[in-house]
Amino acid sequence: MPAIIVLGAQWGDEGKGKATDQLGQNTDYVVKFNGGNNAGHTVVIDGEKYALHLLPAGILSEGVTPIIGNGVVVDLEVLFDELHEMTSRGVDCSRLLISSNAHIIPSYNRLMDQANERARGKNQIGTTGRGIGPTYADKMNRIGLRIQDLFDPESLSFKVEAALAPKNEIFTAVGMDPLDPALVTAELLSYAERVRPMVCDVSLVVNEALDRGSTVLFEGGQATMLDIDHGTYPFVTSSNPTAGGALTGSGVGPTRIDRVVGVAKAYTTRVGEGPFPTELDNEVGEALRLKGGEFGVTTGRARRTGWFDAVVMRYATRINGLTDICLTKLDVLTGYDTIPVCVAYEVDGVRTEEMPVDQKGFTQALPVYEELPGWSEDISECRSFEELPDAARAYIARLEELSGCRIQSIGVGAGREATIVRYPLI
Ligand code: IMP
Ligand code: MG
Repeated sequence: MPAIIVLGAQWGDEGKGKATDQLGQNTDYVVKFNGGNNAGHTVVIDGEKYALHLLPAGILSEGVTPIIGNGVVVDLEVLFDELHEMTSRGVDCSRLLISSNAHIIPSYNRLMDQANERARGKNQIGTTGRGIGPTYADKMNRIGLRIQDLFDPESLSFKVEAALAPKNEIFTAVGMDPLDPALVTAELLSYAERVRPMVCDVSLVVNEALDRGSTVLFEGGQATMLDIDHGTYPFVTSSNPTAGGALTGSGVGPTRIDRVVGVAKAYTTRVGEGPFPTELDNEVGEALRLKGGEFGVTTGRARRTGWFDAVVMRYATRINGLTDICLTKLDVLTGYDTIPVCVAYEVDGVRTEEMPVDQKGFTQALPVYEELPGWSEDISECRSFEELPDAARAYIARLEELSGCRIQSIGVGAGREATIVRYPLI
């Protein structure tokens, strides 16, 4: 019975929700290990669309125990809104567990996100504005609030006061209203009794589950290229969506992991600012955006679009030690005469097949394309690799070769069933 990490291999929105949901059907536990409600997962089941932000995608599979790990930052208001929404649609959320070490996103950190972006002027990161960055910053600064603090009102009130005082000065300086620490504390405490039954030692629960032979899926938010250490800094999120984050974000050791699955789109998208070598800032990119429905689940923003970048994919394979790639949205590429795939970059006139070591090089990287033959047949009903047109199979084979990793499954449509599973993992 395996322990499987599922993470984003590009800049997010690769379809991790669907991938996790699909694997989740044969899973006992799904552990979200990083990020917060900056994520947006869309899962379509029986034609019904579910948009999840904070809750693990596994919540939609019957019999799965969804877990929010210590690496996650939790906005309590969003948590209970989402639970309410799911419950009212008939989804059983009663098994949800939360780490007592997970950090809380207090309302003032949503304001800090805005204040920080404002202060950056034209160098904005384009954050989701959910208070994610300021909350991880507080964690590192050791002024963060944790789930366990909800059960010690006196100490919580002290912590809120200490953390809020310097932030109120910033709010005042940029023309925003300061917040009353007593009100912030009272709001947080109002959730305490509802959270209490969910709180647990995630590391213990997960390790004991693995000891019993249960199947555990570790679900990453965001993606490799948005990783605070390995992504396109500073245009990144503030957590580790890479494989290492699954370990620190849940309290599990590397020797317990069996498979690491990178979810990648058959092309590339990115939301927010930052370098993107294969971006199509033209009508071809606009057509790809419309065809792929590339608009954010969390912010509604139009996603930037471009061709598949094999340099990024190879990098993601290395950084995460990928054993498998779950390739999504292949159907969106139907109808092109030829499909360009970026096989290398040209930086300062020099060809490189690896990620440039410094950010400046990546910002200047020009994509070197290989043109692969396209296909015109509708592939959305294909359920086996053999049913795909020759050109689509050749596209997959070339991506595998360039990425140095096998493609485990191929998405050919939005529904749970619209997937070709070549190598079952569970
Ligand atoms: P933050 O995570 O809200 O701080 O945003 C930092 C950067 O990560 C911005 O460019 C966001 O657009 C991007 N980002 C955060 N979460 C996601 C996600 O789930 N999918 C895609 N991009 C994301
Ligand atoms: Mg998303």
